[in-house]
Amino acid sequence: MSLINWIDLPTRGDDRGSLVAIEAEDSIPFKVNRVYYIFATQPGVSRGFHAHLELKQLAVCVAGKCRMTLDDGQCREEIWLDSPEKGILIEGLVWREMHDFSPDCVLLVLASEHYDEADYVRDYAQFKAKVKA
Ligand code: TYD
Repeated sequence: MSLINWIDLPTRGDDRGSLVAIEAEDSIPFKVNRVYYIFATQPGVSRGFHAHLELKQLAVCVAGKCRMTLDDGQCREEIWLDSPEKGILIEGLVWREMHDFSPDCVLLVLASEHYDEADYVRDYAQFKAKVKA
């Protein structure tokens, strides 16, 4: 599985403006059990710094932009989330960090499961150990 999996989210635009629809198990390969969004992130703040054991997520910057670091324990990649027309699919054991939020950034996340702290790996050394195991 590639570390960077973009999903195109085509706009159904007309002369009124733009609309993007995301359908579970169609546009994205999982059922959506939770939606959350991050906004009003303060200057200089970075977020994330964790991996998930089971969770699948699609992250889309629906306004503004932020930089995401993805790390599978072997390689580390930087991407900019800066378009409401493409999302990044994150599945498997991947460490993620979000940096450089623009003041207008709204980062929408669709998640396959309800919030469960037990699914988080928040310690980088533990993450590396789980990748090796
Ligand atoms: P946190 O995991 O620190 O966010 P990030 O990884 O983006 O830095 O979450 C912030 C707080 O919100 C924390 O108290 C847990 C809570 N939270 C929920 O209650 N439900 C959720 O779906 C998420 C993502 C977080």
